[in-house]
Order: sequence, then C-alpha cells, then structure tokens
Amino acid sequence: MKIIEKQLETILAGTIRKVRPDAPAGKLFFTKTNDEQFGDQQTNFAMAAAKELKANPKQLASEIVEALAGDPALAKVDIAGPGFINLTLSNDFIGAEVAKIGREQYDLSFLDRQGTVVIDYSSPNIAKPMHIGHLRSTVLGDSLKRIYRWLGYTVVGDNHLGDWGTQFGKLIVAYRRWLDRDAYEKSAIEELERIYVLFGQAAEADKSLEDEARAELKKLQEGDPENRKLWQEFITLSLAEYNRIYDRMGVKFDTYHGESFFHDRMPAMLDLLIEKGLAKESEGALCVFFDDKEKLHPCIVRKQDGAFLYATSDLACLQFKRDNYTLNRAVYVTDERQQPHFKQIFAIARMLGWNEQLDHVWFGIMRFGDDTFSSRKGNVIKLDELFTEAVRRARLVIEEKNPELPAEEKAAVAEMVGLGAVKYADLSQNRISAVSFEWDKALSFDGNTAPYLQYTHARIKSIARKAAETGRPADPNAQITITTPAERRLAVHLLGFPTAVLKAAEGYKPNLIAEYLFELGQRFNTFYNSSPVLKEGDAVMQSRLALCLRTAHVAKEGLGLLGIAAPERM
Ligand code: ARG
Repeated sequence: MKIIEKQLETILAGTIRKVRPDAPAGKLFFTKTNDEQFGDQQTNFAMAAAKELKANPKQLASEIVEALAGDPALAKVDIAGPGFINLTLSNDFIGAEVAKIGREQYDLSFLDRQGTVVIDYSSPNIAKPMHIGHLRSTVLGDSLKRIYRWLGYTVVGDNHLGDWGTQFGKLIVAYRRWLDRDAYEKSAIEELERIYVLFGQAAEADKSLEDEARAELKKLQEGDPENRKLWQEFITLSLAEYNRIYDRMGVKFDTYHGESFFHDRMPAMLDLLIEKGLAKESEGALCVFFDDKEKLHPCIVRKQDGAFLYATSDLACLQFKRDNYTLNRAVYVTDERQQPHFKQIFAIARMLGWNEQLDHVWFGIMRFGDDTFSSRKGNVIKLDELFTEAVRRARLVIEEKNPELPAEEKAAVAEMVGLGAVKYADLSQNRISAVSFEWDKALSFDGNTAPYLQYTHARIKSIARKAAETGRPADPNAQITITTPAERRLAVHLLGFPTAVLKAAEGYKPNLIAEYLFELGQRFNTFYNSSPVLKEGDAVMQSRLALCLRTAHVAKEGLGLLGIAAPERM
C-alpha cells in the first residue's frame, strides 16, 4: 500500500496534468495539516508552481480544485490562505486504506535505499561495567537500526568497542599487583573495575606507575605475547558480561569491530594522510590542520611516542567501511561530548574526497532523578541493577492489576514492562536534551509511558479474546466503516504511521515514533470509551473490532521499532 501522502500526490498529479500539463510536477508534496479542522492533508503546490507558470496561485489552486471534484478518495477540498489546497479524505477511502494495514506491505520504493547503512552504537570501553551512561547510545542505536531495517534498508549494527586504549596498560600493571583471584572469578568486570580505580589512586602517590603502564601498553600494541594474552582475557570476560546485558535488552550487533580491529590499518591510514599532504609533523607528533573556516582544533593522529589515537582508529575504521561496504551512510551514536571528535573525522574525510553521508547522532547526557537509588550506589548506576529494579517495580504493578496471571507469565510480562519502561523513558525524549530518569514517571501506567502503550495493546487483545469466547471471533476480512468522529480520528492517525517512521528515520529521532504512539493510545482510548464494540450488532461490531486490531497491530509495530515488546496480556 502507498503511504497517504504519496496516494494524494498521485491523485493530484493526474489532475494537474489535465489542467496544466506544463506545471512543475516535482514541486508537489503533501503534509499533514496542523489543525485537523481544516482537513487531513495539505499542499502548497499552487504557490510553489505559480511563479513558473506565471499564474496567480489562488487562481491555479481553484482550477485544480475544480478538476478534483468527485474523486472518491476525497470528501472535501478547500483553498486556504494564499493558495494552500486542503484535502479532507472520504470516510470510505479511510476505511478501505485502514483495512490494508497489516495485510499489505507499505510501498517505500521512493527511498534511496542503495548500499548499506552502518550504525555504530553502544561501543563501551572494555573492562568497565555497563552503566546508565551506556543506555542512551545502546537503545537509540538499536531503535535506529530497527527503524532503518523496517524501511527496507540494509543495515549493519556495529559495536565499536573501546578495546585498545590507555586503560589496558593500567589494567595490566594493576592486575599483576593487586588482583584478588576469588573476586575475579566471581565477577571479572567488578574486580577489574576495582583494581582500575586502585591504580588511579596509587598512581597519584607514585608517578612511576603511569610510566610503567605506558610501557605495558606499548608492549601490548607491539604484540608482546603475555600482554596480548591478558588483553584477550579482559575482552572475553567483558564481552561475556556485555552480551548478557544485550541479550536481556534484546539488542544485537552484526559486527564487533573495536578499536583494536583497526590497529593494522592505522599505519597505512597515516601514510595516506601524509601522501595527500593533510598530515604534518608538529613537535614530534603528526597532526591534521584545518581550514580556518572549519573552526576546528588540529587533530593529532600520531603521538610523539608513536602511539595512535582515538581519531586514528576512527579514520582507519571509516576507510574500512568504505572498502568493505557500498555505504549508503555511516552513522555514529554517542553522547554530545564527542561532537568535536566527529567534526574532525568528518572534515578529514571530506579533505580526502570521501563523499559518503556521515552522520553523528549525538544525545544529551542522562542524569538520574531518583536520589534514593543513586545515593546508595554512588553516581554510577549499573545497567543490570537499573533493569532489575525496573522489573521489580513492574512486577508490583502487574501483581496489582492482574493478580490471576500465571506466575510464569507474570515474570515474563514484568521483564517486558520493566525494560520497556526504561527504554521508552529514554527514547521518548528529544535526544538532544539532557534527560533525567525518574522511576515513578517511567513505570507509571498512565501518560506518555511504555506501560500505558503496552497496556493499550493488551487491552485490545483482550477485547478480541472476549469476542472469540462469546462465539463472535474477529473476521479478518471485515469491512471497516467509519461513521463517528472518534472512529475517524483514530483511523486517520493509523494511516499516518509510516510517515511518522519516515520522519523518525530522517532526523534520527525515535521520539517522533513515541509521540505518534502516545497520540495513538489517546485516540484509541477516546474511541473505545465512547464506542461500544462487543455490544454492537455484527457489522458494526466487526468493523470496530477490526479498527481495534489495526490499532494493536500498529502499536506493536511501533513499540517494536523502539525495541519494546508488546505482551498479549498484562
Ligand atoms: N568507546 C567510546 C566511548 O565509550 C565510544 C565509541 C563510539 N564510536 C566510534 N566510532 N568512535 O566513549
């Protein structure tokens, strides 16, 4: 099925060809009206085309409107302001289109989906537990991956692990001096974190430790077998822990190309920068200098001691992506503090003549609003603890709402609701703002939350079950007849789903899907509170039930794009 804007563009293009064969058809676009009072969709085509046609925009609009009369998809066509054309869809058309939802694929062939979208997200630094600071990159990247896949792009999700940095020299020194074997066997990451902190403290008193750590890092990077073995061990143990958390979150990666993966590519990358005259020696280091108008600091790509840096690995990484994929675009999801870094990387790419689309999707830092939890744990909240607490709280609410649910299902639903609440609390915010996490807000069953949407979905499923139990199962071929304003408002919103997903993809803003879903929940609840379903005679009952089920379908699909499960019952 075509998305609504494209359908209207097709209808209008046909009309325009009849009245004005010379009109610039490329200027025809539809968008939702700001106020539904004035119709469902709007185009400024008459204004945009008037100049080229040397016509009066209002006059042009009225010619088009006249020729549109009688189109079965349209109930009303108006001209507003200086020449906007406002369309009100006919109820028959809306009903027939809504009926297609879930039965026909959306036609998204107008997108440029050539090549591969590589999304780099989560990317924790090895040997540190995943904490609340990793949440946003992980859920945002995962959601963007789902959104782009849903739109039909080929997507590769890459975890650019921090597995080659200065922390390894320190860890190796600390490991040899202070490791508590028993603790390490119980929880490797926690023990590594402990000795890492210990190193920091000890190095303040004894500066020679830092030199020792640098020497160990150098040995590691040069391939010393013992250091390599330890390094590999830290990675294996850290990844086991990260993957446990990713599994719990339902987050998957296609590649785990950490910084170390690019080590062997870095010298050639530097040669290229030198050969192109972009990198220059400066006080023993190798630097890329930028044009004044870029307003960027020089980017060091090799230190005085010969060591590579974060930027070096990202350049080699981008080169690898270009060599191995036909890139549709490369996307990087990190917090706002990395903006200068990616500006440098992208500027160097352009200087190299690499013209692929590169997008840094940055987000504000997450803060924690509930101080009882944070004061107990210090300011770092581990993701695992966050989820466990969310699930515990979800469990209490489910216990209260639906005590008869079998124990096993309760546990499964609590996991979906708890995780969903945490993810949604994050994804529903504009990513650019700093977010403050609050338990009560996130786990509320009301308002703009995942549990509210999950509950709306489960409620519809329960209506359908009740219908089946009373011998009137949903008819999959039921005709959807739109009669009441509440039905109409719900149905029109359902037709807007793919457009909301497209907008979310375009701006890398999953919060637009959250906004869409919240509005869907509200429109559904208004409809359901005013429109009986099961009490009606067969035709109305089947039509309304079909509308309910399309709502459930879209709610589930939308939540799925946020990485959130929709339980059948709760
Ligand atoms: N490991 C980095 C950090 O924790 C994030 C890496 C982001 N990706 C990249 N290609 N630089 O801050």
